[in-house]
Amino acid sequence: MAEIKCIGILTSGGDAPGMNAAIRAVTRTAIYRGFTVKGILRGYRGLVNDEIIELKSQSVSNIIQQGGTMLKTARCREFETPEGRRTAYEHMTAAGIDALVVIGGDGSLTGASIFAREYNVPIVGLPGTIDNDLGGTDTTIGYDTALNTIMEAVDKLRDTASSHERLFFVEVMGHTAGYLALNGAIATGCEAAIIPEMETEVDQLGELINHGFRKSKNSAIVLVAENPRTGGAMGLAERVKQEFPQYDARVTILGHIQRGGSPTALDRILASRLGEAAIEAILEGQRNVMIGTQNGRIVYVPFQKAIRHDKTIDRDDLDLVRILSI
Ligand code: F6P
Repeated sequence: MAEIKCIGILTSGGDAPGMNAAIRAVTRTAIYRGFTVKGILRGYRGLVNDEIIELKSQSVSNIIQQGGTMLKTARCREFETPEGRRTAYEHMTAAGIDALVVIGGDGSLTGASIFAREYNVPIVGLPGTIDNDLGGTDTTIGYDTALNTIMEAVDKLRDTASSHERLFFVEVMGHTAGYLALNGAIATGCEAAIIPEMETEVDQLGELINHGFRKSKNSAIVLVAENPRTGGAMGLAERVKQEFPQYDARVTILGHIQRGGSPTALDRILASRLGEAAIEAILEGQRNVMIGTQNGRIVYVPFQKAIRHDKTIDRDDLDLVRILSI
């Protein structure tokens, strides 16, 4: 394998708080280890369009606390085509980049895996997504911050739900995964969590809500994971309104607010550790792996395993929501 002298970094797909902390860690560790570093703007689009900048240690000053990504991000259709990837490879080699660190979610790592295979490029991935839906890792960069954003929002909704004695359906992101909804529900004492991994019938939900109202409460909040198949919180609220017109139901969709904000300490520490480990992995000759943590320890996860979508939801956590909300 040719000697690696220059490492390129890009962020791709949906942004996640902590991506900047990861860029900082990758850049500074790489420089410490004697590499030169280039930043690719707007994800894979920056490779296709040749938007590549030099990164020095000072380039990543004062970003650890900032949400978003200083390198910008995008979802790039052209990179999904063989022609787009050829252009990307030509620009990458012309810029002298020998290896890539890709920070993003499943779509970004799928792209990385194809590119690495086609052009024999050494690529290491970092899990950057609020959805926490990558396999082989305890958690992903941005997930903890998004959970905290959800917690703050639901705490506020609880005040008004309680004053008006209302039922709220609050929709959170997650792509096709229910982690944000489930753990958001535990953190805020919600009456139920509706997640794509598990079918919930309207009558089951009605039972849960009735139970809460009857027992001790005058209001209820149900956290609903986005789900185009069921229409998310809107779809669910409509069905519940028809079956249980006695409830004064409202819907709040938290949307992209979940992707912003200063990263929590947990996300900054995770991003820093993973960023450093990405460079160590390259030095060890690793390629086509995502850096993750398992039980807090750094692990190398093959791309195929990371993107397989077989991370399981703990059913006990759903029971926890139900038990603690009676
Ligand atoms: O994957 C991250 C994510 O925020 C998902 O939770 C959500 O479904 C999607 O991205 C939204 O994407 P966009 O930025 O294209 O609206």
